[in-house]
Amino acid sequence: MSKHVQELKKKIESHQARVGVVGLGYVGLPLAVEFAQAGFSVMGIDIDQSKVDSLNRGVSYIQDVPTRILKPLVDAGKLKATSDFGAVAVLDTINIAVPTPLRKTKDPDMSFIVNACQEIAKHAHAGMLIILESTTYPGTTDELMLPMFEKPDLKVGEHFFLCFSPERVDPGNPNFQTKNIPKVVGGITEACTELGALFYGQALEKVVPVSSTRVAEMVKLLENTFRMINIGLANEIAMMCDRIGINVWEVIDAAATKPFGFMPFYPGPGLGGHCIPIDPFYLSWKTKQSGIEARFIELAGYINGQMPHFVVDKVQNALNDHSKALKGSKVHVLGVAYKRDIDDVRESPALDIIHLLEKRGAKVSYSDPFVAKLRADEFLLHAMTAVDPDQASAEADCVVIVTDHKAFDYAGILKHAKLVVDTRNALKGNKSPKIVRL
Ligand SMILES: NC(=O)c1ccc[n+]([C@@H]2O[C@H](COP(=O)([O-])OP(=O)(O)OC[C@H]3O[C@@H](n4cnc5c(N)ncnc54)[C@H](O)[C@@H]3O)[C@@H](O)[C@H]2O)c1
Repeated sequence: MSKHVQELKKKIESHQARVGVVGLGYVGLPLAVEFAQAGFSVMGIDIDQSKVDSLNRGVSYIQDVPTRILKPLVDAGKLKATSDFGAVAVLDTINIAVPTPLRKTKDPDMSFIVNACQEIAKHAHAGMLIILESTTYPGTTDELMLPMFEKPDLKVGEHFFLCFSPERVDPGNPNFQTKNIPKVVGGITEACTELGALFYGQALEKVVPVSSTRVAEMVKLLENTFRMINIGLANEIAMMCDRIGINVWEVIDAAATKPFGFMPFYPGPGLGGHCIPIDPFYLSWKTKQSGIEARFIELAGYINGQMPHFVVDKVQNALNDHSKALKGSKVHVLGVAYKRDIDDVRESPALDIIHLLEKRGAKVSYSDPFVAKLRADEFLLHAMTAVDPDQASAEADCVVIVTDHKAFDYAGILKHAKLVVDTRNALKGNKSPKIVRL
């Protein structure tokens, strides 16, 4: 066992290791907080100065991390942030949780990982444990990252240690958060895996070591591809049921009573968020290089991508059935976050739906207790401000439930609305000619 393994082990076990987290977003901030709560001194590094300033004031900007938890850690000097990568020089461990989006061509955009690693590499030193957490294609850690750090006097497994550990956090989930979601970790060498597992074991409840970084990378892609494809199946079944006049929600609920061999997935207005619509394409990009077309992924991606169009067709047909045209009608979109009770609008199907409705001439408003404003971007051509859900629903020709936040007064909305297209089964149990279900 190299002297660096022994020294780092001691520092980790005694919680004297100085922990760094690069990228303080939905993944990085909760992780930094867990290690600070476990007694480590944690330094967060982010290029976004507003996040750095907010953290140093002890004010959280991530819904799952309450300020009442963050502030005492900052006040006690256990958690700090900086935009200066020079801090890496005194750190013993570094977790990297920067974005991994797709380019327009659906190819992986590795620029965030590359930029972060280039900066870290300038200050990397012997005795360091580096762990990538960003979701990415198998091979990223050993093909892309390792050459950026390894030098003749800095050998992996001997002088420094490199792992991949997929982040599985589910923002807004009240039952499972960073601490109690089992942590898979795989290293380049056995010593890397051992140190990675030891490190996570200090702050998180359960660690699952695997034999390599590639296995760990693939675990995450299997999990998210599984979800994407099953949601795609649920969406296709929803379109079939719609065509032959069957309530798909009732079908799924009844099927879910089978105690084995079935797991319910639900249809909806389309995929959203930074993970499920994106991650599987990291896998298909990689496998294409080996001559394997990821056909399930392409098909599910196509079906899921049709859902906003399907929803807008439903709105149009529902209005037509009431002798109204979509063009010129007022449509109120209830909920724009990509899922219930969170504030994230990245890749949200609501943006597509608003865009498509406006393209067909509707006058669109939205409400969302978590999203006060929508900025103009490539999906949404102009900025929008949330309005009162009850008033706007009563005034609209049609209400579309896109995100089923718990805070909406569904009974009141149904009472006063003229027509409701429900893409989430939020009005489950209600019978009314005003309701049009997915
Ligand atoms: N959000 C989720 O639910 C979730 C769940 C599991 C995995 N992931 C994965 O985790 C990774 C991070 O996702 P996220 O949701 O936390 O993203 P995020 O956008 O919330 O946070 C990323 C942070 O990294 C910072 N950053 C970007 N480039 C940087 C650089 N070069 N150096 C330092 N900081 C930099 C950004 O300013 C931002 O604060 C992604 O790969 C994502 O796929 C996300």
